Amino acid sequence: MKIPQKTLTRSLLNTCTLFLLSLLHVNPLFAIPKDANIDETKVPKFTLPNPLVMGDGTPVTSSHQWSARRRGEILDLFREHVYGHAPDGLPKGLTYQVLKTVPDFLNGKASMKEIRVLFNGKKDGPKMDILLIVPQIKYKPVPAFIGLNFGGNHTILADPRITLSRSWMRPKKDGLVVDHQATEKSRGSSSGRWPVETIIDRGYALATIYYGDIDPDFDDDFKNGIQPLFYRDGQTKPAPNEWGSIGAWSWGLSRALDYFETDQDIDAKKIAVIGHSRLGKTSLWAGAQDQRFAIIISNDSGCGGAALSRRRFGEKVKRINTSFPHWFNDRFNDYNDYENALPVDQHELIALIAPRPVYIASAAEDQWADPKGEFLSGKYAEPVYSLFGKKGLESDQQPPIDHPTGDFIRYHIRTGKHDVTDFDWAQYLDFADRHLPKK
Ligand code: GCU
Repeated sequence: MKIPQKTLTRSLLNTCTLFLLSLLHVNPLFAIPKDANIDETKVPKFTLPNPLVMGDGTPVTSSHQWSARRRGEILDLFREHVYGHAPDGLPKGLTYQVLKTVPDFLNGKASMKEIRVLFNGKKDGPKMDILLIVPQIKYKPVPAFIGLNFGGNHTILADPRITLSRSWMRPKKDGLVVDHQATEKSRGSSSGRWPVETIIDRGYALATIYYGDIDPDFDDDFKNGIQPLFYRDGQTKPAPNEWGSIGAWSWGLSRALDYFETDQDIDAKKIAVIGHSRLGKTSLWAGAQDQRFAIIISNDSGCGGAALSRRRFGEKVKRINTSFPHWFNDRFNDYNDYENALPVDQHELIALIAPRPVYIASAAEDQWADPKGEFLSGKYAEPVYSLFGKKGLESDQQPPIDHPTGDFIRYHIRTGKHDVTDFDWAQYLDFADRHLPKK
């Protein structure tokens, strides 16, 4: 495949940006740009759009009105102005292939399966690999967690039987990625974020997919990834109101859910979707659109995720659109420095999940992601949950550090930095136990 010079230059620039941002990712406090506000007294005054008033001014007073009309209106606004519309239907030829089955995994506690999704049925076309680890217990089907990962499925656990990803990777230090390819050394390198054995011991299956399989995370004008499969005649990139990478990643999660509906080990009605950071933005958008996801978990998702855009705290719309021009749709750029003109704000993304349980997590040292703005999104989504008789956060104030609060909308801010920790997982597992009771 010949790559045009413009694309190469662009990709090089993006690689440098990504490297700088990966440093930022490691220690956001040090890297917060000077022009970003992290002073609560400087948060501007703003008025949020009201999820309970329809476009034509009619108040929404029942769950029926919400589900029949208002939900669709808000979903459409997010598609049009923020994440983009995903195409209808599936690409022609999409097929699922079981690549590998290992009956004796985690010392016999689990079985492992790798499922390849050929998006257009062609081996050399775009594809994603689902790693599925299922507890060996009598009572099947089991509920499951699914989450996209940053470095390849082989990074969640150091077991050589997991296929090493051959997909394009963002640069990483310490020899984990060389020339955009994962190395053997990277096996298990993100196991700290994936307590696989604990999840299995608690009776849940765990599925994961490398997000770059669906759309590689760099701005190449949408030449790779799944978008081209849907181009109309003569189309070369998504239209300004069509999907970007977050839209594509969340679409991939729904395709995994399609597969679970056919897998007898998995209870597809009990799937929790989890994501960290950009992948937390993705899990929220996946859960907002696809109501088959039973629980939605946002770990430190920040700007364009759980944090309210109008607060302009930490990362702002302009900044995210500049650093990552491919994540949202092009129309989202209209709101760079004009957040008040947005027809939605992120509390309505949480509201789209109602009445399903949603967990929003922040970290105390992650000011870039605006922990308070993440809490407030949950808070302002509560009226929609109330329509369904569901309790939300059960607190008007952001709770103290390490004190989770809430029922159907649950929130915590934990000690530490931008990351996924055992503390986070302990809360998510308890949350799932409560809302997805097992047989
Ligand atoms: C950057 C970006 C955030 C994003 C994060 C990540 O910090 O500014 O919006 O959440 O990367 O995904 O790691």
